[in-house]
Amino acid sequence: MKLSHTDSIINLNAPLAWTTANPEEQKMLQNLQGNILKSHGRKFTANIFFRLGEDIAQSRRLLRELANYHISDAHRQLLDTEKFKQTGDGGGAFCHLALSYKGYAALDLLDAAPQDDDFVKGMQHADSIKALHDPDLCCWETEFQKEFHGLLLVADESEYDVLKLSRDVFVPLLEKSGCSIHIIQNGKAIHNQAGNGIEHFGYVDGRSQPLMLWEDINSESMSSGISRWDPAFPLATALVEDPGVCDGLSFGSYFIFRKLEQNVQDFKRREQEVADLLGFKDEERELAGAMLVGRFEDGTPATLSDEAKGQKPPNNFSYKGDDGTRCPFHAHIRKTNPRGTGGFEDEADERLHLMARRGIPFEEIERRVHPDNLPESTSLAEFEHKVAPLLPTGGLGLLFMAYNNS
Ligand code: HEM
Repeated sequence: MKLSHTDSIINLNAPLAWTTANPEEQKMLQNLQGNILKSHGRKFTANIFFRLGEDIAQSRRLLRELANYHISDAHRQLLDTEKFKQTGDGGGAFCHLALSYKGYAALDLLDAAPQDDDFVKGMQHADSIKALHDPDLCCWETEFQKEFHGLLLVADESEYDVLKLSRDVFVPLLEKSGCSIHIIQNGKAIHNQAGNGIEHFGYVDGRSQPLMLWEDINSESMSSGISRWDPAFPLATALVEDPGVCDGLSFGSYFIFRKLEQNVQDFKRREQEVADLLGFKDEERELAGAMLVGRFEDGTPATLSDEAKGQKPPNNFSYKGDDGTRCPFHAHIRKTNPRGTGGFEDEADERLHLMARRGIPFEEIERRVHPDNLPESTSLAEFEHKVAPLLPTGGLGLLFMAYNNS
């Protein structure tokens, strides 16, 4: 299916230039929550999953209070980001609210609920579990087996501020409004020495994104180039018209949250197995991990392995001419974004699968060694006695989050 939106006042078939937005576009950005068109970028988050109370009027009052006084709209977020770039002032806390279909039902607002079939069923539904090849519900972390009505995402630059905000402001506000809190899931960004965000296997993450703002596309064009990969995506990649308002200026997005645990020890072991199997020696051994992920740990794409490494990992590349010998077809980033070489769809259709990823790592056990400081291994045997004992087998991972049009 091709995206086509012709009736809206806002042109959803193209990116948006927010700094030169016309009054309608500005209004749309003020109606829209932040984090959808661009990541909030804060280092710490508290994700508060809650269930609304029985009193519908009270729950609606809560939503109004959150929307009027706490939620960060897209326009405000973009202004804050500019200020941060110029002054280093982070703009303070960021707050975002997401409702499940059952949340709309609890508010008696089903007429206003988006109607995507998978959203209506929810991720705990047997059909969704089957489609996603997830473990049975009874094997999920206990608190996540419960039925949620909403998620309040609170983010800030310091862990202290996030914990204080959620404990002193948002939990009391939710509870006073009749809600029960199911779980507060904290997120914590981690960085490598170059200052790039990484995930727990040690790889730069969040680099390749569908860019929906012309300002971001122009900046990418100036800094890294866009001749081989076009990062420009239409607003319709993430925006869905709000069925409860239908004024052509009010939009939301389908938000996905998946808590994915990572077995770091096993993943790093597999890297060593692949390196031994392919007879890689010394520095060449890191190519094994790059063949699994599609990028080296510092973010350099495997398909560009002999090009110069820079501070900002390149994203201006395609796999054209790479028959799998440089970046294997199964590598994570080639599978999720084949950049025109997937072999099943044309490039335009492949691009429709990309989502605005907004994930953040979580860490419920303390790591003994930062993922950027792991000792090198010359063989699997050496890894087993020198490195493996330092590595966690669970208790941390990625809070995968993404915004989509379906
Ligand atoms: C614990 C689980 C995961 C880890 C550790 C992980 C790790 C990574 C890393 C290191 C990158 C490269 C950085 C970048 O290009 O931005 C990446 C890219 C990406 N990942 Fe994941 N990922 C995980 C789960 C997922 C899931 C569940 C999806 C989708 C369903 C996904 C979709 C993507 C996409 C679309 C890209 C960008 C590819 C590109 O445009 O070149 N990832 N991931």
